Amino acid sequence: MTYENAVESAEFIKTKYGRAIETAIVLGSGLGAFADQLENAVKVPYESIPHFARSTVEGHAGQLVLGEIHGIPVAVQQGRFHYYEGYSMEQVMFPVRVFGRMGIKNVILTNAAGSLSTEMTPGSLMLISDHLNMMGTNPLRGANDERFGSRFPDMTEVYDREFQQIANEQANEIAKERFDDGLDKTLIDFLHRGVYCALSGPTYETPSEIHLYRLLGADAVGMSTVPEAIAARHQGMKVLGISCITNFGAGMTEELINHEEVMETGAKVAEIFKELLRRVILKLN
Ligand code: HPA
Repeated sequence: MTYENAVESAEFIKTKYGRAIETAIVLGSGLGAFADQLENAVKVPYESIPHFARSTVEGHAGQLVLGEIHGIPVAVQQGRFHYYEGYSMEQVMFPVRVFGRMGIKNVILTNAAGSLSTEMTPGSLMLISDHLNMMGTNPLRGANDERFGSRFPDMTEVYDREFQQIANEQANEIAKERFDDGLDKTLIDFLHRGVYCALSGPTYETPSEIHLYRLLGADAVGMSTVPEAIAARHQGMKVLGISCITNFGAGMTEELINHEEVMETGAKVAEIFKELLRRVILKLN
């Protein structure tokens, strides 16, 4: 997948939607509903976009939705490409490269994740402060095209601090409006901040692996986001990452982990998640 491929895809998307876009959003498992509320939406199926792969996993619609939130144009990736599906890292990060060629400056990456902390319960959200790339490879491995970015990109601040602050403030606002009994207590159960550890999947982890990642400093585990975050930073885009906590890590409770439950929890938090995203988008612009 070359730079020219990304430019070609970006040009194609621009023929479908004329307004300039500043912010793209990638929706994780169970969180696809956000795209349904865009105004003046134009839906572009992945298979119609030159050089795009197709999404195969259940719960992912596989289309780009271009439209507005309170009049602000956004590009929403409803369904992403996961490494565990067999796509190459190039295919996984390609949409973010296309966003870059479309002139998009900000990317909001969302996902479903397992919690490694007993304090962070399913149904809460976690602002990603940093990540551990444990996928066993790096999406930028291979020849580097300087038109995307430098050979050795800095990763000191992958997740933009100002964006994190904005998200935190907006979560506080939501909490104030929704919960009248004491801010702090309710917030603890709503928005957390922590380190996201990306694994290749598709298996969930063993209890020993969960123990290991916790020792390494991870707060949540998942199978996405990091390749896209790296591709975005490579291109100088700003990143905000939000995990929807769908379950406790393997072995932390008596329960087994299954995809249906992950999807169900995603649907349960959909409303508050949508509201947070809406508010954050307003503030980013
Ligand atoms: N592990 C990995 N990925 C996940 C999990 C998990 O527990 N929950 C949702 N995505």
